[in-house]
Amino acid sequence: MQNRQIEMKQTSTSGQHTALVGLQWGDEGKGKIVDLLTARHDVTVRYNGGANAGHSVVIGDQRYALHLIPVGILSPDTMCVIGNGVVVDPEVVLHEIAQLTERGIHVGDNLVISDRAHVVMPYHKVHDAALETFLETAVIGREGGLSIGTTRRGIGPAYADKVHRSTSIRMGDLLDRNVLHEKLTVICSLRSAELKALGVDTEPLDADALTEQYFDMGRQLSQHITDTTYLLHELSAAGKRFLFEGANACLLDIDHGTYPYVTSSNCSALGIPSGTGLPGSMIGSVYGIMKAYSTRVGAGPFPTELTNDIGDAIRERGREYGTTTGRPRRCGWLDLVAVRYSAMISGATQLACMLLDVLSGLETLRICTAYELPDGTRSDRFIPDAARLGRITPVYEEFSGWQETIDDLTDRKSLPDAAQRYLDRIEQFVGVPIEIVSVGPERLQTLVEA
Ligand code: GDP
Ligand code: IMO
Ligand code: MG
Repeated sequence: MQNRQIEMKQTSTSGQHTALVGLQWGDEGKGKIVDLLTARHDVTVRYNGGANAGHSVVIGDQRYALHLIPVGILSPDTMCVIGNGVVVDPEVVLHEIAQLTERGIHVGDNLVISDRAHVVMPYHKVHDAALETFLETAVIGREGGLSIGTTRRGIGPAYADKVHRSTSIRMGDLLDRNVLHEKLTVICSLRSAELKALGVDTEPLDADALTEQYFDMGRQLSQHITDTTYLLHELSAAGKRFLFEGANACLLDIDHGTYPYVTSSNCSALGIPSGTGLPGSMIGSVYGIMKAYSTRVGAGPFPTELTNDIGDAIRERGREYGTTTGRPRRCGWLDLVAVRYSAMISGATQLACMLLDVLSGLETLRICTAYELPDGTRSDRFIPDAARLGRITPVYEEFSGWQETIDDLTDRKSLPDAAQRYLDRIEQFVGVPIEIVSVGPERLQTLVEA
């Protein structure tokens, strides 16, 4: 796995580290590009999100899907860091370690987890699901009510506890039975009452049993838990290069996404400093990862959504089913207003355009380059607010499609003219060069600008 066959371009930048973020609503193919870029970085760092992420990598006939452990773990010489900004479900980490080990991937001192990362507890997952169920019926006559369509991995409730402060547990707490027990005694009585009020029919939470269960998991993970902020600064000073693996995506960012239909962390590149303790000035290049079309899982506005046979064809060709939940992804035309906004807030310096092969065979393609507002005026600004975004009408430019299959090409110059024109328009509109074009899930199905 060490010998990469795709030569990635070396970029010269001021900061020594690289960020990689999704520019749409997730599942852009970040996992594939993290895997490719790992070869020229020493450390892969997760800074946000939790087990709501699902990053797939295909290496030969092997397919991996990682939720919490950074994708860099698949490369033997790469150090992997789960930063303080991540919400960690210890059960998922232990499960991933076991699965990777079973498949011959070494997980030992190459994985470190911040002692300040907050823990996703079982009651967070119960709360997440109960709240979603409650919200589904909260507005009668509106399909899905007010539910977000979360992954039900406890992400929102865990981040809420982090902000509440006194009701949260951090990874470091798992190493001290007394601290853990004291906290859980208070939390369990509070949470039992809250879950009951939400209509959850469960036994009261048992602080003693939870303490033993999570202290035991802390013991199993103890060799990985450390102060990652100092560690990262020391590694950086020693000249090591980091790759920040963004989870989720810019349009799901809690502050800058389609609120309230977002996740609960800063998943754009803006989350890196707070989620790791490293200043943003240390980041030299930012890869914006985008699909050649759009997808979204869960509820929320999606102006270019195709609820017709073209959308169905894209879903089937792109195998657009969730890596974490298996849910069918909503599919639609490329929304460049949204992509340009995400590139802007993340400071993207280069783009990777993924899944271009999925568009082969469509007669006509459309790209949204403006929004028509309810008053009839046009705007090329994204609207990071669900209600207002839900009222715009997309304005499209039309492009001829291409009929050729492109998943076996090895050179960007051999792409059909129509595909070149499609990519040219993306670069021109977003104002950021496309460095990587992906034409299939495998490492070799990657066209890199010479
Ligand atoms: P991530 O969350 O951004 O890492 O993306 P996911 O792994 O959830 O979803 C992307 C899916 O697209 C995965 O199944 C990948 O194996 C697949 N994929 C990645 N790049 C390409 C590509 O260029 N073409 C096709 N057809 N599939 C791709
Ligand atoms: P990756 O890293 C796609 C979506 C969920 C839901 C909303 C809130 O694989 O791209 P949450 O469970 O986070 O509270 O759900 O955010 N979502 C994602 N959609 N890819 C992801 O991650 C996602 N992470 C969260 O579907 O709409
Ligand atoms: Mg995914």
